Amino acid sequence: MALLPILVAPDPRLKKVSSPVGQVNDDLRRLIDDMFETLYEAPGIGLAAPQVGVLQRVVVVDVTPEGSTRQPHALINPELAWVSGQDDSYNEGCLSLPEHYANVVRPAEIRVSYLNRDGQQQCLEAKGLLATCVQHEIDHLDGILFVDRISALKRNMILRKLLKAKKQGNLATA
Ligand code: NI
Repeated sequence: MALLPILVAPDPRLKKVSSPVGQVNDDLRRLIDDMFETLYEAPGIGLAAPQVGVLQRVVVVDVTPEGSTRQPHALINPELAWVSGQDDSYNEGCLSLPEHYANVVRPAEIRVSYLNRDGQQQCLEAKGLLATCVQHEIDHLDGILFVDRISALKRNMILRKLLKAKKQGNLATA
């Protein structure tokens, strides 16, 4: 296992659309293990492969609070099969936008289909924080950051601050 460097916005790689995984093999399982290690070390609740520079449709999620039994979800080629008409709002953050948070509105409940690490087709129903987190991570696979879902004013303010911090060398840019 290895810790992977996490890309920080603004970075063109975070704006790319990732490709579907063709084959679930040992290389992919190694990537998933490394992504979980990186996620827990950060610590965070979700990480998408493009955030570590791999433009493939893979995300790892674990929203359980620190100290409780882990409930890791690795989703390969995840697709939203259903979303509720009712919305929820969460104060979201992102490992690629460190120290910045904003309220984002998304469907409150979802059903997502995906392949698990054995390549089997699965379906996950989620609500609350898990639903928000899975949608946030799927967005990453389409080059969408949570700041793309808030006002342009607030988005530009956050991105300017991150760019400035990068130039001053205060943030690891991987
Ligand atoms: Ni994120």
